[in-house]
Amino acid sequence: MSKEGNVKVVTTHVLYEMKLRGEKIAMLTAYDFSMARILDAAGIDVLLVGDSASNVMAGHESTLPITLDQMIYHASSVMRAVRRALVVVDLPFGTYQGNSKLALNSAIRIMKESGADAVKLEGGAEIIDSVTRILSAGIPVMGHLGLTPQSIHKFGTYVVRAKEEAEAKKLVEDAHKLEEAGCFAIVLEKIPAKLGAQVASELKIPIIGIGAGSGVDGQVLVTHDMLGITQEFSPRFLRRYHNLFAEMTGSFQSYIKDVKSKDFPNEREQY
Ligand code: KIV
Repeated sequence: MSKEGNVKVVTTHVLYEMKLRGEKIAMLTAYDFSMARILDAAGIDVLLVGDSASNVMAGHESTLPITLDQMIYHASSVMRAVRRALVVVDLPFGTYQGNSKLALNSAIRIMKESGADAVKLEGGAEIIDSVTRILSAGIPVMGHLGLTPQSIHKFGTYVVRAKEEAEAKKLVEDAHKLEEAGCFAIVLEKIPAKLGAQVASELKIPIIGIGAGSGVDGQVLVTHDMLGITQEFSPRFLRRYHNLFAEMTGSFQSYIKDVKSKDFPNEREQY
């Protein structure tokens, strides 16, 4: 299925125009067809096939184990559902760091095999060669700075990043480098709101925050977190719009009760 019909498709240029006119960008994660279809129909601007699928879908403790093949599987499922949103796919850990040729091959596989619109990479100066090489093939790249979960073993903790001046200075420099290299947008994760606002005002490209305050150009959350399907994760930046864990548990318990009590199926529910 391809994006077509009468809908105005979201492109990287549309995001840039949104920033220019001060319209905030709404981004959420999706890993499967059914959820992507609901999100797209709801009018989400950007869908991220995040490597958070490693946690949310596969139950791993970090984003590190997910493979390129698994990301392509998730991205292909999402692409079959989407009519309007821009779909960005994370390059997983170990498929782009320190080797720009590998990075290009990984990005090409995602674009060719899933039909996605763009890729996202974590890091600044240290991955700029990979970013540049992917961009040279005409593949749009979104950057990701601040708390970059693929580096969790370097950080040792999921606390707020760039509170100290040196780290904040490097983050601002990295953001400029990513913009100069040609990235179309950058995600800033879990940093002080003031720093998020500074980067958004200094850069022309859209800055999408997750725990980066209200002064950025858009917001992203993990869909399963904002729906309350995941329970254990509750950082300050997370607004929960539902408690689906509880609601779904209730539905499953009702079903179990109906089956056990022989109430389901009734006369009208059989042939
Ligand atoms: O993988 C992911 O879901 C992400 C978001 C947290 C931005 O990278």
